[in-house]
Amino acid sequence: MFENISNGKNYKSLFNGEWIESKNKNTIELKSPVDESIIGSIQALSKEEVDEVLEISREAQIKWGETPISERAEILYKAADILEENVEEIAKIMQLEIAKDSKSAISEVKRTVDFIRFTASEGKHIEGETIGGDNFPGFNKSKLSFVTRVPLGVVLSISPFNYPVNLSASKIAPALVAGNSVVLKPPTQGAISALYLAEVFNKAGIPKGVLNTVTGRGSEIGDYLVTHKNVNFINFTGSTEVGKHIAKEANMIPMMMELGGKDAAIVLEDADLELAAKNIVSGAYSYSGQRCTAVKRVLVLDTVADKLVSLLEEKVKKLKVGNPKDEVDITPLIDSKAADFVQGLIDDAIDKGAKLLVGNKREGNLIYPTLFDNVTTDMRLAWEEPFGPVLPIIRIKNIEEAIDIANKSEYGLQSSVFTQNIDDAFYIAKKLEVGTVQINNKTERGPDHFPFLGVKSSGMGTQGIRYSIEAMSRPKAIVLNLLK
Ligand code: NAP
Ligand code: G3P
Repeated sequence: MFENISNGKNYKSLFNGEWIESKNKNTIELKSPVDESIIGSIQALSKEEVDEVLEISREAQIKWGETPISERAEILYKAADILEENVEEIAKIMQLEIAKDSKSAISEVKRTVDFIRFTASEGKHIEGETIGGDNFPGFNKSKLSFVTRVPLGVVLSISPFNYPVNLSASKIAPALVAGNSVVLKPPTQGAISALYLAEVFNKAGIPKGVLNTVTGRGSEIGDYLVTHKNVNFINFTGSTEVGKHIAKEANMIPMMMELGGKDAAIVLEDADLELAAKNIVSGAYSYSGQRCTAVKRVLVLDTVADKLVSLLEEKVKKLKVGNPKDEVDITPLIDSKAADFVQGLIDDAIDKGAKLLVGNKREGNLIYPTLFDNVTTDMRLAWEEPFGPVLPIIRIKNIEEAIDIANKSEYGLQSSVFTQNIDDAFYIAKKLEVGTVQINNKTERGPDHFPFLGVKSSGMGTQGIRYSIEAMSRPKAIVLNLLK
């Protein structure tokens, strides 16, 4: 099924329906996050090749945009079927490439199958409207606006390492069903998994040139891509640092961005503490904390803090640590730079007097699950996104202090509130400066048809299947002026 995408371990790039090597023969070697062994190499496309990709994408979009939505949706249904037949194989690549544990890798691919099917179906229900002129003072029924939705053109999709399949597909599928062509720039570490996904769409019958890939380091070709004249929309998921950089560079190109987070779990004194602890641990530590929506700080009322802390400690100690091939919770981080960064946050918290409950143990890129109590607001861990398995507990005196600390963050992705009092839950939810508040659940993106957005430094625009289709299409109004 995937024999065309590589020459041995040298992975090619999808260009106009064919898998090609870069003419300049420049490649990037990818290493395993577990033991640094070589997994394979990907193409480092040149600027001239990026030009060719964007020109072919522009040309191919014209016919694709005119293809009936029902036909576009049929191809997506086929892609979902093909992906479903290859769940195990793609999940294995992810284990190797980004050290995702087997259960999470399988669940990512299965979720993507559902995502593509739902998108195909939702795409068929995106409709326009007719607006009569007489709704506005001074106009009559002889003026009618026919509003349809049309594609934007070429969508540049840039995805991050932590969900290379799901966060590529969640850009590609809505963009395609809306009639756009797509240029996928996958993360360098994670590119192989994303190239497998591109081949799934290719095999499903996406016409030549409608989906192309550009591999190469973001630091080298990224700026060229995001400022290219043939790009009509940028759909980016990744770090706040890179997102802000792209937003400045890309000038007037419209964009949607899903960036970093520092999601707080607020625990009140009447909370079901067992439920809160279970959700916080799975929210904070799954895929070793490398999720934008991971619980990244706990704000707990003093009165119940001791009890919650002991439940959390007990659960964190039970997390299984090891190799992604095995049934484990915590695996090595994506690279040594990421592990060094997390270690820096741990060291700073210890230096400033936080109470270490579990962890602070490291083997290469593997950071053992780490839990701190008595974290204070002068510590880096109170504000910075670790993207690793370390969780700070901050004790608070009252609800107002929780809201204040939660909102002081530069980020605004999600928050959780654990309480049995619906009035308190809604009071806090309304005051929090985030895209989504979860009541009595961990912070998380799914289900994927819900709106998903970040405010402040956590992003701009709204994802979610229907929202994403709408974001990657626009109204086109044709006004009829009746003469009789
Ligand atoms: P990243 O370093 O920002 O990279 C994201 C993507 O941007 C990669 O494909 C990267 O390519 C590319 N890139 C880098 N520099 C670029 C440039 N100048 N122009 C264009 N593209 C460029 O993020 P990451 O480390 O992969 O992912 C982790 C971060 O993503 C975390 O902060 C996390 O919170 C955030 N995230 C947010 C969400 C959300 O929905 N809010 C979801 C997942 C992750 P290379 O790989 O080649 O550098
Ligand atoms: O970090 C990626 C983001 O999409 C999270 O998804 O389902 O892990 O909350 P989820």
